[in-house]
Amino acid sequence: MTILVTGGAGYIGSHTCLELLQAGHQVLVFDNFSNGHPEALKRIEQLAGRRLTLVRGDIRDQDAVEAALRQHGCTAVVHFAGLKAVGESVEQPLRYYDNNVVGTQRLLAAMHNCGVNTIVFSSSATVYGDPQRLPLAEDHPLSATNPYGRSKLFIEDMLRDLYRANPDWRIAILRYFNPVGAHASGRIGENPLGTPNNLMPFVAQVAIGRRDFLNVWGGDYATADGTGVRDYIHVVDLALGHLKALQRLDVPQCTEINLGTGNGYSVLEVVKAFEVASGRAVPYRVSPRRAGDVAACYADPSYAERFLGWKAQRGLADMCRDHWNWQEQNPEGYV
Ligand code: NAD
Ligand code: WQD
Repeated sequence: MTILVTGGAGYIGSHTCLELLQAGHQVLVFDNFSNGHPEALKRIEQLAGRRLTLVRGDIRDQDAVEAALRQHGCTAVVHFAGLKAVGESVEQPLRYYDNNVVGTQRLLAAMHNCGVNTIVFSSSATVYGDPQRLPLAEDHPLSATNPYGRSKLFIEDMLRDLYRANPDWRIAILRYFNPVGAHASGRIGENPLGTPNNLMPFVAQVAIGRRDFLNVWGGDYATADGTGVRDYIHVVDLALGHLKALQRLDVPQCTEINLGTGNGYSVLEVVKAFEVASGRAVPYRVSPRRAGDVAACYADPSYAERFLGWKAQRGLADMCRDHWNWQEQNPEGYV
């Protein structure tokens, strides 16, 4: 199979491209490099010992997507391309709706015109909004608390509508919890531009000495130690979930699937695990809560296990070890 991977030069996309190549697929990366790096693609090829094809382009350019699908005979799409910073989405909502929602509409229209009807979509646990009950199962009510989350919700609805109108489509909507870590080689990993928004890349930059201390956003949540609890998932486990989803798309469907571990860890538990993995101190200060954060969020991953035969294999210590290995080998990210 030749698989078109939108956003394949980004964090989760790069790890998934590597697993796809290693599983014997042909990979076509379609990326505008707004947040991805060409160096990631070179390193994927080195690790896999195989070539991939790159088309530099924007998913909002429907003609370019159609040309790529046709020229390379793609049979399926894995769709990562999108903007993902929550705070930025509050400040620039139209940019998020344009890139994520309009971009996905054009991608789907291009697929439709080319007769490609198999897609795996990167959704997010953010579509569950403020959790009404934990753990979060796929039937939990959906809502959005910011424009980024709303863009994911719109896209999910667009995919469900598309399937209703075209029941021959094969659609997997994967709802990721908190992806962290890096490939065990330390050659590919997350490459945040500017100040990281997410916890683990920030912790890693404190450990390596690029930042003085971590701000722990809130110490007064109703959790065991007062700090926020999340379901961190190793990015390689996440990538492997995409392979399983593609295998399962052998029949028409539109299926939503959580990809998480089912375990919640607090900010302070992550800090401690990272200190052990790195052998470095991670100084922190407890600061006021960050607007929009919830106390706890973790998955019920049992449907993924039943439906995909997939279960996360890597624990918090593995996530910290591999994230640190990447950080130590690439202190400034891809250069
Ligand atoms: P990333 O920014 O590292 O990767 C996204 C890639 O898409 C980048 O390479 C970027 O250059 C590319 N891109 C963005 N807009 C594009 C466009 N219009 N046309 C072509 N390419 C474009 O992000 P990531 O962490 O790898 O996330 C991948 C997907 O997973 C995103 O859709 C994100 O919303 C979703 N997701 C991420 C997380 C997370 O915490 N990282 C959690 C849940 C869901
Ligand atoms: C984790 C915990 C913070 C940074 C976000 C998006 C979500 C999804 C994943 C895309 C929280 C605390 C963080 C820091 C801290 N992305 N924290 N100091 O907020 O769970 O999810 O990324 O879909 O949509 O909202 O992840 O890594 O930002 O935070 O104390 O400097 O770490 O308060 O408890 P979050 P995160």
